[in-house]
Amino acid sequence: MADIIRGVRGMHDALPEQTPQWQFLEETAQDILQRYGYREIRTPIVERTELFERSIGETTDIVSKEMYTFEDRSGDRLTLRPEGTAGCVRAGIETGLFAPGNAQRIWYKGPMFRHEKPQKGRFRQFYQIGAEAFGLPGPDIDAELILLSARLWRALGINEVVLELNTLGSNESRQAYRQVLVSYFSDHAPQLDQDSRQRLHRNPLRILDSKNPDMRSLIEDAPGMDDHLDQASIAHFGQLKSLLDDAGIPYRVNPRLVRGLDYYNGTVFEWTSGKLGAQGAICAGGRYDGLVEHFGGRPVPAVGFAMGMERILELMSEAQLPDPSPHVYIVSGTPETLNQALSLAEDLRDRLPALRVLTHCGGGSFRAQFKKADRSGAAYAVIVGEEELKAGNVGLKSLRQDAEQENLPRDRLAEELSHRLGL
Ligand code: HAM
Repeated sequence: MADIIRGVRGMHDALPEQTPQWQFLEETAQDILQRYGYREIRTPIVERTELFERSIGETTDIVSKEMYTFEDRSGDRLTLRPEGTAGCVRAGIETGLFAPGNAQRIWYKGPMFRHEKPQKGRFRQFYQIGAEAFGLPGPDIDAELILLSARLWRALGINEVVLELNTLGSNESRQAYRQVLVSYFSDHAPQLDQDSRQRLHRNPLRILDSKNPDMRSLIEDAPGMDDHLDQASIAHFGQLKSLLDDAGIPYRVNPRLVRGLDYYNGTVFEWTSGKLGAQGAICAGGRYDGLVEHFGGRPVPAVGFAMGMERILELMSEAQLPDPSPHVYIVSGTPETLNQALSLAEDLRDRLPALRVLTHCGGGSFRAQFKKADRSGAAYAVIVGEEELKAGNVGLKSLRQDAEQENLPRDRLAEELSHRLGL
């Protein structure tokens, strides 16, 4: 026997038993995003490598060690997208989405790729749903995005999530703070772990994000960003907090929240759950007012977030899902009645668009077909047998209640099912 070819480590299948939950998440999110005026964008999964290098940042973990990068047959350096924001910005500039005075609210969903160490809640191919708003500089849109995500948690039955907020200030104030951090951590160089030593000059803000318990007290004593923030960022952040207070959204200001991508400025936020272990962030984002201009567009303020679908699914596992079982299972006695069964099924689908019909295929005795009908979870079996057909009838039998088969004229079946199933 040939060897089985296995899937790629850190990349998973969503099986038919699991996809109803994925679909429920996707439909709920799409519905809410559309109700807030977001329109979907679909960008390629593959982009030029430099798009990510120049937006996420060369010194970030994502770019320096996690990207799936390859040269294609034309010699172009390409990367499987590790996130969706850079592609949206590229597409927006290229296609003229960011016209002056034209705010854009867009959303996307799809697979992202990062060569991280796989563990619970962390995969090499994972799915995000993201939202990005362009052309709106104020805290109002930051607050609206957070309200939108909070509405999604409610709709999915997810509670016990915590919103963490911070502001990174303007690029200038961030640069100033960077210098302060470099000198603080340099003074304590012997206490730095290997990761932090590497980050010291390349990306010192990321040291604040270290999860190493041995680094905790050093990080706690590090100078805060507060003293280096510019007035405009302080005012923006104050207004955002007051908008959230008025909307009744609790949050925790976390001055150590710096995010792992370089394009942010001003507001950053993360929704986390304590139920997921080490990978607790289910949704994260913030402002990136400089990115469109950085890629050669006009200056366009922007803010967005992305949520990790697998992590959300983990929290939703007890949420109520619609039952995907068929309503009716059509059994047919002989090969001769099979064509009648198929045409009856088509007729039912024409007349009752909400009806889920499974027609038995593959032959077998009535007994065997009824067994399959029962296992399918269908509420009713419809019997297309020779005797019934001779009289212009079909049989109808409840599979969930102890009742005899009833025969009724073929033409009345749709009406009867509609009545019984409330369709
Ligand atoms: P991110 O924090 O890198 O941000 O990812 C957002 C979310 O994607 C995370 O909070 C997590 O739920 C999920 N995620 C990330 N990596 C993995 C992984 N390896 N396995 C499973 N889930 C994962 C971004 O991607 C930004 N583009 C968000 C953004 C949009 N900022 C502004 N607009």
